[in-house]
Amino acid sequence: MNKKINVLFVCLGNICRSPAAEILFNNHIKGLGKESMFYVDSCGTGGWHEGEKADKRMRQTAEASGLEILHRARQIKSLDFDQFDYILAMDDKNILDLKVMSEKNAEKIFLLSDLSTDYLSQNIPDPYFGDMKGFENVFNLLDKVTKQVANTILYKHSKKLQS
Ligand code: 4NP
Repeated sequence: MNKKINVLFVCLGNICRSPAAEILFNNHIKGLGKESMFYVDSCGTGGWHEGEKADKRMRQTAEASGLEILHRARQIKSLDFDQFDYILAMDDKNILDLKVMSEKNAEKIFLLSDLSTDYLSQNIPDPYFGDMKGFENVFNLLDKVTKQVANTILYKHSKKLQS
């Protein structure tokens, strides 16, 4: 009963999409008064940016919405596959990479948008090589998607408790 719902957001570098998804999801569960039910983190399939702050453009975009990204990038590790209940990938390439890393945990790995209601099968585009507008678009998309995902996870959890 006391166990938290452990949610891990994953992208390629862990400096643009997944740290943004993490703070937006946190903001939604806080708004719902359900923050204490969750443990939330993010990571990358790659480790090139290990220890770095999120991309400045994503931090600025978040700040414009009154949110601060404090996360430091890290690469996914094998323990994550055991410890997290939901491993939520931004795009199909992330899914492929994750499933190669841990075949036995495939049932925990989802395309983020597949836990939404209105964005099924949609990849969250990588804004890294684009302009500031691309970061804003991705941030706004993630805001809407993570709100729906928070509700889906809470609904699944309530059904599980009833069964
Ligand atoms: P992210 O974006 O996966 O959303 O963090 C990227 C960040 C860095 C690189 C690619 C994508 N990179 O090639 O370094």
